Amino acid sequence: MRKKDGELVPRNQKPTPDFSPRNNIWKYNTGAGYSAKDKIAFKHPAIFPEQLAEDHILTWTEPGDIVLDPLNGAGTTTKMALLNDRRFIGIDILQDYCDIAEERIEIAKGTLKAREQKLVNE
Ligand SMILES: C[S@@+](CC[C@H](N)C(=O)[O-])C[C@H]1O[C@@H](n2cnc3c(N)ncnc32)[C@H](O)[C@@H]1O
Repeated sequence: MRKKDGELVPRNQKPTPDFSPRNNIWKYNTGAGYSAKDKIAFKHPAIFPEQLAEDHILTWTEPGDIVLDPLNGAGTTTKMALLNDRRFIGIDILQDYCDIAEERIEIAKGTLKAREQKLVNE
């Protein structure tokens, strides 16, 4: 929820834990510090939470599947698809948002490399 001037009103909603039975209403905290780990995502005015995208991807698809988001915005869906070993197609009508989505993919590739490196070192 936002105030009249657009500022986000913080909510003390308990987020859905990583491991728990999922019901058909999923609750997520949203806004700065909650919706996305990369700050660039917030250049888009209406992102949804990364956790929401990830929960759907893990629920409905298998590794290697193609995830399509025809209203990709800042690319939350495509980022979480990449991080979960899915292929992806993201479409948006605005080039600026496609640019943000592509930058997030590059950041996420760095995250994947760091994960792989950690596994090699363990
Ligand atoms: C609510 S935003 C999606 C945000 C996205 N889920 C995220 O987390 O970044 C909806 C997006 O749809 C795009 N859009 C609206 N009409 C479209 C159209 N006809 N074709 C492609 N994209 C469109 C807008 O530019 C906007 O970025």
